[in-house]
Amino acid sequence: MAARGVNIRIENLSHRYSSKSPVTFDRVNIAAEPGESLVIIGRSGCGKSTLLHIVAGLLPPTNGTLLLDNVQVRAPSSRWVMMFQAPHLFPWMTVTRNVGIGLHFAGWPKKEMQERVAEAIRLVNLEDYANSNVQDLSGGQQQRVALARSLVMEPELLLLDEPFSALDAFTRTALQRDVRSIAKQLGINLMMVTHDIDEAVLMADRALVMAGSPGRIVHDLPVDLDDPREREDPLVQSTRAHLMQIFQDAAKPSPIRRNAAEATTRLVGIT
Ligand SMILES: Nc1ncnc2c1ncn2[C@@H]1O[C@H](COP(=O)(O)OP(=O)(O)O)[C@@H](O)[C@H]1O
Ligand SMILES: [Mg+2]
Repeated sequence: MAARGVNIRIENLSHRYSSKSPVTFDRVNIAAEPGESLVIIGRSGCGKSTLLHIVAGLLPPTNGTLLLDNVQVRAPSSRWVMMFQAPHLFPWMTVTRNVGIGLHFAGWPKKEMQERVAEAIRLVNLEDYANSNVQDLSGGQQQRVALARSLVMEPELLLLDEPFSALDAFTRTALQRDVRSIAKQLGINLMMVTHDIDEAVLMADRALVMAGSPGRIVHDLPVDLDDPREREDPLVQSTRAHLMQIFQDAAKPSPIRRNAAEATTRLVGIT
């Protein structure tokens, strides 16, 4: 499956839902090279999903710039696709039909479509279930179908909004490992948001800590560990401890309150 990554430049991105809402996040700067996996980690409510929706072109930012390969993002595209916590599949259709639905609506010729769908199903290790109805699959297998449906579009950037948080620990671990390995194999970028520190350490090339209200990126930690990553590995554990420390320091109230006050002052008047 042909794919490649994308150059990401997010500069001074700020957001508020309306002139009466508080600022969601403020002056977020993120730069990533093609093929990098970024995990944004932060507490519930700090603006992670909103940020991801903006990167996906589903929501406009209030201020700032978002460039993918130097082009301003203004709308959704098959070049950057999003995976959510719920797989959003058609339960009465087979795995193959679910995975091929985007290509079908795009008018792809049958043979090319079948080849590409089969390859995406192979990538997520669901060959044995290609003709099963998705309602007969487990939650983890359904997320694999959703992943294949995203990959079949040959995206350059896969956006993941806590897609494994409803799964049991074993299934989650297997999917974390496989999604990272598929992204590396295809050379595509991942941008994932989570509140799970283990997930960040297992999946990230860089962990970006988002904190405060409004949210800011307060730390950018390179996670330079060999693959496949095992939870029990002492290097994984020490990175986890380091990230936990950063996360706890970021949650200390005083600088965040100051940031919040500054941001509110700066953005007053923006609608
Ligand atoms: N559609 C919306 N309208 C107004 N406020 C919203 C909307 N969606 C989310 N928010 C608020 O924006 C903040 C950030 O939400 P969200 O991006 O979902 O955070 P996270 O994903 O980090 O939990 C929260 O305070 C939330 O209540
Ligand atoms: Mg969220």
